[in-house]
Amino acid sequence: MRDKSPEFKIRSYQASDESAVIDLWHRCNLVVPQNKPKKDIEMKLKIQPDLFFVGTVSGRIAATVMAGYDGHRGWIYYLAVDPDYQRKQIGHRMMEKAESELQKLGCPKINLQVRTSNQAVISFYERLGFSNDDVIGLGKRRPPSPDTRCSSVPEIIYNIRLD
Ligand SMILES: CC(C)(COP(=O)(O)OP(=O)(O)OC[C@H]1O[C@@H](n2cnc3c(N)ncnc32)[C@H](O)[C@@H]1OP(=O)(O)O)[C@@H](O)C(=O)NCCC(=O)NCCS
Repeated sequence: MRDKSPEFKIRSYQASDESAVIDLWHRCNLVVPQNKPKKDIEMKLKIQPDLFFVGTVSGRIAATVMAGYDGHRGWIYYLAVDPDYQRKQIGHRMMEKAESELQKLGCPKINLQVRTSNQAVISFYERLGFSNDDVIGLGKRRPPSPDTRCSSVPEIIYNIRLD
């Protein structure tokens, strides 16, 4: 009797996925010295954890995607497909899932960044309808704060002369 073909599923990230996910990110060359994957996962679990997905093949982690919506734009991070399963439309499916969840939140535009050293991935995103925004991405690292959650912006009172 023939073996059943392996089953691909997408589900939310769960705590027991951590080491397999980090291992996948290493194998996909997504971890560079300034990344702290364990810390990145911890932070994602504090903010919109429901936008962090894994893809499994026969129950084993084979793909990830992390998304976020800030009320203006949606962002995609850590899209990865196990090299053993690439070019089987899994990356496409992971992006579809992230995009549909962002759309449910009313997100009108999705942004993502590609490292200049990762040109090969650009055709993948172009196939999905992404295009070069002709902007320059700027970034600034901030020191870690004890708890990054903030439910409301505190009022700040300034005394200035208006006359
Ligand atoms: C980018 C990545 C997620 C794509 O996943 P994937 O499952 O292989 O992609 P898909 O099979 O869904 O590809 C869909 C289409 O995109 C295009 N595409 C995908 N990978 C490509 C590549 N390396 N070069 C050129 N085109 C590519 C092809 O047109 C492909 O369709 P085809 O196979 O019928 O020709 C995967 O290559 C990966 O994990 N790379 C390493 C991590 C990474 O760079 N992540 C993105 C960070 S910005």
